[in-house]
Amino acid sequence: MRTVTVEIPGRSYPIHIGPGARQQLRALVARRDPAQVVVIADRNVADLHLDALAAALPAVPPVVTFPAGENSKSLACAERVFGFLAEQRVERGAIVIAFGGGVAGDLGGFVAATWLRGIAFVPVATSLLAAVDASVGGKTAVNIPAGKNLVGAFHQPVGVIVDLDFLETLSGRDYASGLAECVKQAAIRDPDLFAWLEAHGEAILKREPDVLGELIARNCEVKAAVVSADEREMGLRAILNYGHTLGHAIEHRLEYDLRHGECVALGMIAENEIARGRGMLAGETVERIRALLRRCGLPTVLPRALDPAEVIESCRVDKKVQGGVPHFVLLRDVGDPVRGVADVSEAEIAAAMSAIAPG
Ligand code: GLY
Repeated sequence: MRTVTVEIPGRSYPIHIGPGARQQLRALVARRDPAQVVVIADRNVADLHLDALAAALPAVPPVVTFPAGENSKSLACAERVFGFLAEQRVERGAIVIAFGGGVAGDLGGFVAATWLRGIAFVPVATSLLAAVDASVGGKTAVNIPAGKNLVGAFHQPVGVIVDLDFLETLSGRDYASGLAECVKQAAIRDPDLFAWLEAHGEAILKREPDVLGELIARNCEVKAAVVSADEREMGLRAILNYGHTLGHAIEHRLEYDLRHGECVALGMIAENEIARGRGMLAGETVERIRALLRRCGLPTVLPRALDPAEVIESCRVDKKVQGGVPHFVLLRDVGDPVRGVADVSEAEIAAAMSAIAPG
């Protein structure tokens, strides 16, 4: 078992990583009324793993499920969960266990952040993406038709569980989607981790337990350090948005047909083209990052053509907009990001999109 701590004054919390890490839940929910430990679960994950989760809790918990997929990150779905919490008479001393991938963490965290103005929550991450990114750092949100994650709150969990047993059933495609965030975190912050990813590609794809534990722990360390330095994204934390300005716009324009990590991979490749076009980033580094993403099983071209003008429009309806202008994170090198780049022109975005256009 490995434990990484997210250090936030007065609210530090552990991320427990390893096979059987769910056994740490008892300590996290200790001193709470067992009837007030509530599970909000992805329906597919619940079908596979709810019994194992419940066995790690002091009592059989009340459970509400939601359909797998990004569409459940909606106000309508949150309202249904609120109705369940009301029926169950969930009180301020309760704790929500958000069981599933990134959608569970974002939706469950959003519900926990707003129910009775905020109750405790613990994400039990069952996807790689949730383990290394979405569950760590307290960003919670739902989507609205205008864009992704536009309605949400910062709400730190009291702990995070990454039980490698639950990751075994993850599809290859969902696993690769999580690898995109691993590549991102290495690319912005940790050249050694980037080289480690390149060197351990085969073992990572085979999900060898030791390598998987190290992959997740090292990524959580990167994320924890950034969040500890800047919980509310007033500065440094924005580097985690590398690949996400175009990635979110692509995700929105493809109507969530691709996984989040797949869109982030395409976003990183396209944003690297902007950096290359400016003479900031060497062509060989652009190719190195693209090669690693490809090796992880991620797309390097769009599944269908997108109108660059529409992508630009989506970039403008995003949390990363300031003064109506989308902000980008561009790389100078692996481990050397520049955040707050606000002067990217429409022509540069159009050229970047043509670099990931299909055939
Ligand atoms: N996923 C980006 C962040 O947590 O800030």
